[in-house]
Amino acid sequence: MTPGLAQRPSPGDAQPAEQRDSDPTPGGPPGAAARPAGAGGAADSALGLRFDDPVLEVRSLSLWYGRSQALTDIALTIRRRKITAFIGPSGCGKSTLLRCFNRLNDLIDGVRVEGEIHFEGRSVHAHDVDVNALRKRIGMVFQKSNPFPKSIYDNVAYGPRIQGIRQRRRLDEIVEQALRGAALWGEVADRLEHSALGLSGGQQQRLCIARALAVEPEVILLDEPCSALDPIATARIEALMLELKERYTLVIVTHNMQQASRISDYTALLYLGSLVEYQETERLFINPASKQTEDYITGRFG
Ligand SMILES: Nc1ncnc2c1ncn2[C@@H]1O[C@H](COP(=O)(O)OP(=O)(O)OP(=O)(O)O)[C@@H](O)[C@H]1O
Ligand SMILES: [Mg+2]
Repeated sequence: MTPGLAQRPSPGDAQPAEQRDSDPTPGGPPGAAARPAGAGGAADSALGLRFDDPVLEVRSLSLWYGRSQALTDIALTIRRRKITAFIGPSGCGKSTLLRCFNRLNDLIDGVRVEGEIHFEGRSVHAHDVDVNALRKRIGMVFQKSNPFPKSIYDNVAYGPRIQGIRQRRRLDEIVEQALRGAALWGEVADRLEHSALGLSGGQQQRLCIARALAVEPEVILLDEPCSALDPIATARIEALMLELKERYTLVIVTHNMQQASRISDYTALLYLGSLVEYQETERLFINPASKQTEDYITGRFG
């Protein structure tokens, strides 16, 4: 199934870290760095990527729901204007990790976090962080599209209105721009006052993306955005994500490995709350460094 597997290098075959870390080519292949030996006790399999100018940087992140640990010593960086995919079996912590980026886990009782996440160089846990402002900059699109029971227009204008934008002309502009950005304008321009609940599933998901775009985020988190959609609607969302990465940083959770390999630039495999491997997507799928990754992508576990 994966012909490149026979040439799978052992971790010892990796390039020296100093060569890998100093890739100066903007937009070129990133430096791939093995995790420091001993980090989290998982250095044998946990390869990772580090980028010079990361948008998000996760350091030694662990998370507990009450007494149950959901994430263990995660370290990874997210690259600007790229699509990063999180894959792994159900319950491995993909959504939990995604929700850490804009502190959505704060809304769940009994959550305890150790370690750090830096967004544009600043800790998202710093005492003076305005969580609402953080969530504006790092938007979220959920698995099940969740339009408000309002008009299409009011759904998209919701965030800007909360930010205090009242002028109708300005709101009109924002709504149009966001709907165009989400590749939905052509289908709804003549029925903006209709209920959003009358849209198809794929249109509702694009509406939710438009709602996220309307507040001008920098990062968009998407948690299985296509899992409830048919192949045609999925293809539209995938094409849209490829367009959006020209301007935004995207992090997507997906169970669909074909989807990860089609659209993402980098892929992280999680298992039981730990990061197994983080690589350029092509490399992870064709020539994984970890036996666990190989087993997962060839369907031997999960
Ligand atoms: N609100 C919560 N309270 C308690 N435990 C939770 C909560 N949310 C998630 N968990 C637990 O944390 C672990 C990771 O869950 P998470 O939802 O992040 O996994 P996932 O990889 O997104 O799974 P799936 O692919 O099924 O969506 C699981 O064991 C889950 O049961
Ligand atoms: Mg999930």
